[in-house]
Amino acid sequence: MANSGNGEGRPALRQAIHVGIIGGGQLGRMLGLAGIPLGIRFRILEPKENAPASAIGEHIRGDYDDPEALDRFAEGLDAVTYEFENVPVESARRLAGQVPVFPPPAALEMAQDRLVEKETFESIGIETAPWRQVDSREDLARALEVLGTPAILKTRRFGYDGKGQERIDDGPSADAAWERLGGVPLILEGFVDFHRELSGIAVRDRSGQIRHYPLAENLHRDGILRESRAPAPGILPERAREARTKVERLLEYLDYVGVVAVEFFETADGLIANEMAPRVHNSGHWSQDGGGVSQFENHIRAILGLPLGDPAPNGWAGMVNLIGGFPRRREALGVSGARLHLYDKSPRPGRKIGHINVRRGSLEELEKGMAQISELAHDAGEG
Ligand SMILES: Nc1ncnc2c1ncn2[C@@H]1O[C@H](COP(=O)(O)OP(=O)(O)O)[C@@H](O)[C@H]1O
Ligand SMILES: [Mg+2]
Repeated sequence: MANSGNGEGRPALRQAIHVGIIGGGQLGRMLGLAGIPLGIRFRILEPKENAPASAIGEHIRGDYDDPEALDRFAEGLDAVTYEFENVPVESARRLAGQVPVFPPPAALEMAQDRLVEKETFESIGIETAPWRQVDSREDLARALEVLGTPAILKTRRFGYDGKGQERIDDGPSADAAWERLGGVPLILEGFVDFHRELSGIAVRDRSGQIRHYPLAENLHRDGILRESRAPAPGILPERAREARTKVERLLEYLDYVGVVAVEFFETADGLIANEMAPRVHNSGHWSQDGGGVSQFENHIRAILGLPLGDPAPNGWAGMVNLIGGFPRRREALGVSGARLHLYDKSPRPGRKIGHINVRRGSLEELEKGMAQISELAHDAGEG
């Protein structure tokens, strides 16, 4: 067996719980770091050697769609989860025939296609940006007539960190966008005039109990999340209620188990849902050091049928992503209250390689901490 890591050769303990994670990225690594204190053993399925999550347990090296690797991965597990949304749905379904898989493969399937995602949102009363399906240059022209500009052309599948999308402002930029993205199934979205981006993260357990993290305010640059703050400063109680109601509706509709993240645009008239992630989410990383139970631990608790913990932060929490480089440990840790999380990835431009969390007693103090950390992150990364 192509195993490595500290799971190899250890006798099975009667009381140990074994969780499998499909994907070996930083989210898998942090799920493991949260579950290990609960006495849980982890196994990951990941084709690449030396993945960030290799550190948390046994590593089965195999492709996500290799039946033989999937069977080897599933053996003896109590539950399977995944840490990225492009897990082949067929693989998730195959595993679900052998071991409980959460979140349910149907949620995965929906989240993989922006068009299906938007249709689902709309069918349960969750408002989205206006959109049109685009499969040809003529479709694009027609969609632009209806939606106007600015608009955003996006691939239906496999987009992340702003990749696979192009903004269209006029005729020439429509040609350029088509040139770059045409040939795969696309969607055109009307541009939402939002004043900020928020995310609603919640967790639902196997008995249907739901806990909400406070809405986070998210700052993106070049399509990549840079900073999150929670609770979202100045959020109106009715907005927070609206988000909870919408997230709950989605969780119930999907009979969901685990952590979900829904990205929203906040506009003058309320919330517009952008997309959902059927997994723990970058905008919830602050919860590791917020003083409540983190999204990672609650996800593990939920999929195992264990009681959920209180997500509420104690005071104000924030997170700054480290993109393309990281500051000296000595400097990062020198910021009062700062907690450093590195993913063991080599720096590359535009690549998330870690984050720093900070928690403070007041919003004013949080802002001071965030400013110090952002400056360090900025100096270390590509800017
Ligand atoms: N319809 C839209 N109107 C305005 N801004 C948008 C729209 N769609 C995406 N964006 C901007 O682009 C970012 C990335 O788009 P998103 O659909 O979330 O893709 P990704 O999968 O890359 O996160 C969003 O966080 C937002 O800042
Ligand atoms: Mg997004």
